[in-house]
Amino acid sequence: MTFTPAKILIFGGTGTIGQYITASLLRAKPAFQQLALFTSANTANTKTALLDKWKAEGLSVIVGDITNESDVAAAYNGVDTVISAVGRGVLQHQIDLLRLAEASGSVQWFLPSEYGTDIEHNAKSPNEKPHQLKLKVRKFIRENLKRVQVTYVVTGPYFDMWLDPIPGAEAAGGFAADRKEAYVIDEGEGKVGFCTMWDVGKFVAATLRHPEQSFGKALKVQSFIVTPNQVLAEYEKQTGSRWRVVKTPLDDIRALEAKFWEEGNPKATGITLRRIWAEGGTLYSKNDNEVLGLKPEDLDPLELGVKRSLNGGWKRDTF
Ligand SMILES: NC(=O)c1ccc[n+]([C@@H]2O[C@H](COP(=O)([O-])OP(=O)(O)OC[C@H]3O[C@@H](n4cnc5c(N)ncnc54)[C@H](OP(=O)(O)O)[C@@H]3O)[C@@H](O)[C@H]2O)c1
Repeated sequence: MTFTPAKILIFGGTGTIGQYITASLLRAKPAFQQLALFTSANTANTKTALLDKWKAEGLSVIVGDITNESDVAAAYNGVDTVISAVGRGVLQHQIDLLRLAEASGSVQWFLPSEYGTDIEHNAKSPNEKPHQLKLKVRKFIRENLKRVQVTYVVTGPYFDMWLDPIPGAEAAGGFAADRKEAYVIDEGEGKVGFCTMWDVGKFVAATLRHPEQSFGKALKVQSFIVTPNQVLAEYEKQTGSRWRVVKTPLDDIRALEAKFWEEGNPKATGITLRRIWAEGGTLYSKNDNEVLGLKPEDLDPLELGVKRSLNGGWKRDTF
């Protein structure tokens, strides 16, 4: 019999990308039969307005501790599909979430927290520092999951976030709209495949509509593929003015990356990811958009991504 996800549980659904995923699933048409969110007591007490709004739209909220087995086992009762969007700091806890899913009688499908860089893109990927915990989760899945199906939704960088330069490491790339300054790597001609944050939600919803095509896969999905110079041209068009451009060789970014890791600077992860993206770590001969039935006209275009940035960017999004 064909599996159709009906009773869905989300971890990390109030987080940075989790909010886009939860909002997209809540408003998906036709609606999913049951949508529940597992969240910490801290979040339940601090994000009350958001949770109350979502509850009014049909979301069930379960308050618990993801490190507590009985809380998780109880939340899995009757659930057939689990979506994890937990943050980088708690990726390793997913091993327990997966073990408990396998032991549950009901969970049949699990989407681990990925929604980012392809951690198995090329021969260098296994050694990239930011990939280590996600690689560990994939290894656990390969070696231990027999019953539960898994899908990784690999979105590449979030366009909305990539536009914001990293303070103190601006050279690694980005666009400062307030001072009309662009930071590009090398000549700004390297292509990068992006997802807007709203499209991440759209892609996760579309994944749930295509279980058979998605089981056991790392789906590579993208809103659009553009060069920094194309992004710059769009900013210049929308602001009606020329921007100042700062060009930095990729080797200088590599040197900055090494220095940040050596100093224990928490911004090192961001620099490594930008270096990976600039090296072509988001490019494929073909992505998996079509597997999910999504065409370019279903997805956000570059123009909208830049327009949103000029209107204040992703931090002003509401759900
Ligand atoms: N492609 C990109 O450009 C990009 C950018 C950012 C993130 N990502 C990826 O997206 C995924 C989610 O990241 P995010 O930044 O959205 O996550 P986040 O906002 O940092 O955290 C998401 C949720 O995880 C739980 N959580 C976080 N830290 C915790 C802790 N120390 N203890 C217990 N629970 C904790 C919280 O959920 P509750 O309090 O509700 O339980 C939180 O709301 C990750 O896999 C990340 O690598 C990709």
